[in-house]
Amino acid sequence: MNNRDKLQQLIDLRQQARQGGGETRIDAQHQKGKYTARERIEKLLDEGSFEEYDMFVTHRSHDFGMEDNVYLSDGVITGHGTIDGRVVYVFSQDFTVFGGSLSETFAQKICKIMDQAMKVGAPLIGINDSGGARIQEGVKSLAGYAEIFQRNIMASGVIPQISAIFGPCAGGAVYSPALTDVIIMSDKTSYMFVTGPKVTKTVTGEAISEEDLGGATVHATKSGVAHFRAEDEDEGIMLIRKMIEYLPQNNLEDPIVTACDDPIDRREDALNEMIPDNPSTPYDVKDIIYTIVDDREFLEFHRHFAKNIVVGFVKFNGQPCGIVANQPNYLAGVLDIDASKKAARFVRLCDAFNLPVVTLVDVPGFLPGSTQEYGGIITNGAKLLFAYGEATVPKITITLRKSYGGAHDVMGSKQLRGDINYAWPSAEIAVMGPKGAIEVLEGRKLKDFATPEEAAKYVEKKENEYREKFANPYQAAKYGYIDDVIEPRNTRFRIIRALHTLATKKDTNPPKKHGNIPL
Ligand code: HXC
Repeated sequence: MNNRDKLQQLIDLRQQARQGGGETRIDAQHQKGKYTARERIEKLLDEGSFEEYDMFVTHRSHDFGMEDNVYLSDGVITGHGTIDGRVVYVFSQDFTVFGGSLSETFAQKICKIMDQAMKVGAPLIGINDSGGARIQEGVKSLAGYAEIFQRNIMASGVIPQISAIFGPCAGGAVYSPALTDVIIMSDKTSYMFVTGPKVTKTVTGEAISEEDLGGATVHATKSGVAHFRAEDEDEGIMLIRKMIEYLPQNNLEDPIVTACDDPIDRREDALNEMIPDNPSTPYDVKDIIYTIVDDREFLEFHRHFAKNIVVGFVKFNGQPCGIVANQPNYLAGVLDIDASKKAARFVRLCDAFNLPVVTLVDVPGFLPGSTQEYGGIITNGAKLLFAYGEATVPKITITLRKSYGGAHDVMGSKQLRGDINYAWPSAEIAVMGPKGAIEVLEGRKLKDFATPEEAAKYVEKKENEYREKFANPYQAAKYGYIDDVIEPRNTRFRIIRALHTLATKKDTNPPKKHGNIPL
């Protein structure tokens, strides 16, 4: 073979690899409304930036006639490229080759780029579309998964790890995405479950479809496994690119501050009218978020899950931040098990990757009842407490309205190392709300009244007295728990100035192997 033939051989092999499992299977993939593994990478990365590794890798299996069934790349495309000029590593499972199932060599390809992403300190993006462990390879495939899991664990908190689920992701295979920072699922074309419908039916008798057991809607609304449900793969890919914009390359770097045209001193008079006079009237905290952040842009995590708390990425004067806000519009913004877990995980994500946390508080307390107590609201509420308390990033807390009881302490309070704590004049910071307080304090006396009307009148008087005394920010401000009471319309400016001031903040935790967060 002369050099020209050798060159032609390279071109042919590359062409062969790019064909994946062949045209018929590629067509089948398209018919399901899915892109191929390579198309996804093309769309994800900056044009022409993809550098592929291990295109010529093939499996080493000789069982079940596999020696005659060989595909270049072996069902997963790996390499690196850039998103908005920043280096990222990526793997994309190719369903057209053995259903994207994971072999020994498939796992080795993924591990290679994971190791390199760690050395380089660059984000890892995994696109999942796979029938799970390659059945013909048996335990080698299981070992391959475990190699990946171990790397996911070591990379956690070091480099951002983002998972897209654009097809099947079942059995133990779900645990690699589950170990990463963010999961995005495409609607109707993806599913995740540990045990599929068939085995579920055999073992428990429950008949359920793939979609109802582990589709994007289920995981975005009920389980909270998925942070995002994308309408389709295009939206999913856009979300990955957006996510990278807010995150640094690794835990030793800060997120990139971008130019901002939105005036930092933009005053919003509407904010002064935002809180209803009646403390029981709900409002949408997202209206406040959109009003104060740069260009009304808010990348909301878990939009459909635990809606009583709102979390997501925003920018203030170009500085990426995490925002956590109780949502009075849903369950009065109460903290329950799901809300605590959702916010705790988010605060830890921000802290791991150096994003300041801005907290907007309007919380009536923890949700009472046996369902919550039996479900472990104690342990789960403690997760959020722990997350705030251990976080060393700048923490700015603004109390908008209610901040009662234990929930007050949890939501970025001064004593959990809140750096700058502001309150709006509408803030009510107290051990509990007036109704509950008067029931406890006056319960005995209420029995003495001749008529319920007289009792109600007395309760109203006492509640008003209580509200005057405690339901305001000045008690807390008197003790320095609140640094200042601010005019709502100045909130954007005050947050930006606080972030600017805290940019060089240093805080540490005592040396330890790791904390023991109440899991
Ligand atoms: C080898 C596989 C495969 C697998 C699919 N294929 N899954 N090959 N190992 N696990 C192959 C099929 O033989 C077929 O090959 C091609 O991929 C496409 O599969 P289809 O069944 O035709 O596609 P579809 O109808 O879309 O169904 C997709 C599917 C189904 C739902 C994923 O293939 C399926 O149920 N596969 C088995 C899933 C599974 O049980 N995996 C093991 C889970 S346990 P041809 O040549 O016909 O195109 C696990 C443990 C991990 O993963 C443990 C980690 C700790």
